[in-house]
Amino acid sequence: MKGLVLSGGKGTRLYPLTFTSAKQLIPVANKPVLFRVIEAIRDADITEIGVVVGDTADEIKAAVQNGSRWGVNITYIHQEAPLGLAHAVKISEDFLGDDRFVMFLGDNVIQGGISPLIKQFASSEWNSQIVLTEVSQPQQYGVAELDDRGRIVHLVEKPKVPPSNLALVGIYMFDQHIFEAVHAIKPSWRGELEITDAIQWLVENGYEVYPYVHRGWWIDTGRPGDMLDANSRVLEEIVPYVEGYVDRDSEVDCRVTVEKGAEIINSVVRGPAIIGENTRLVNSYVGPFTSVYHNCVIQDSEIEHSIVLEHSVIDSLPSRVQDSLIGRHVVLRRSPIRPKALKLTLADYSQVGLL
Ligand code: TTP
Repeated sequence: MKGLVLSGGKGTRLYPLTFTSAKQLIPVANKPVLFRVIEAIRDADITEIGVVVGDTADEIKAAVQNGSRWGVNITYIHQEAPLGLAHAVKISEDFLGDDRFVMFLGDNVIQGGISPLIKQFASSEWNSQIVLTEVSQPQQYGVAELDDRGRIVHLVEKPKVPPSNLALVGIYMFDQHIFEAVHAIKPSWRGELEITDAIQWLVENGYEVYPYVHRGWWIDTGRPGDMLDANSRVLEEIVPYVEGYVDRDSEVDCRVTVEKGAEIINSVVRGPAIIGENTRLVNSYVGPFTSVYHNCVIQDSEIEHSIVLEHSVIDSLPSRVQDSLIGRHVVLRRSPIRPKALKLTLADYSQVGLL
């Protein structure tokens, strides 16, 4: 089998972070979501992986390179614009050939990896298998209707009256018949070639499409709140280690990872949390569900349930930072200079919640 990872798109819902960089490279528990996706595919013994890239191709290639770090071969496939998930499949036909493949959205995080579902599809004769999960609000998702043999017969996007509580997760498995489907369908009202239309085409043309019901969590990191949610879930699962320096005046509990070169001075860190390489915490408090990435400084401040990206500085803040997503090279500092006022340089679409 081969893997196809979708890493193009615009990431508008994560503006302004995604103005300047790819959303798939935003780290969750200090590892880019895309790296987690590649590792999940590699752990299912798939080594030939195509990565669909768009405007952020250069940044993604620089981060992922040829995949040898994970023992996989990466082939980049250029998509001229985000014209839909089925369009991404269409342009990957040469790479995929006649192989069965798994398609994974590069901004999704799933608990427990994908080995069990790959095993089931690889040993079946089915033309496609779609990963579904039970949700409490099916009205908000793409939902599948199954027949009495358990096959998928219908997919509906955000149904008012849901036919089931089984929502589509961003993982799909196909054989080569999907190419007939993506060539046959037409763009939707939003101008995209929809993967749900392609799957519906398979069903209507007599191909066997089965569900794989995933038990456990799955998060589409489309919006900032989802990013924080994914961060919390992954932090709860990683095995902590301390490779950095923690001084005797600090209190760091057993669910905290301190990466190499990090320094924790006279601070309290409550896990699950991760402090990235060469980051310095001084006279500060870092609370549960927080990931501070590489080369940051947090001084005389408090933060929890947040993600801080690399090279950012949080210094002498009068109140605790919470539920926040802070980008790269951000400086948040109490200023001693008069007048006593907020002095802000914010990118377009920034959001600031003040007391
Ligand atoms: P989406 O989250 O549906 O789209 P997006 O990344 O453009 O985000 P937004 O809605 O906030 O603007 O995409 C899911 C994944 O698939 C994501 O990793 C981007 C990727 N993708 C492609 O590679 N090509 C495409 O044509 C589309 C639509 C998405």
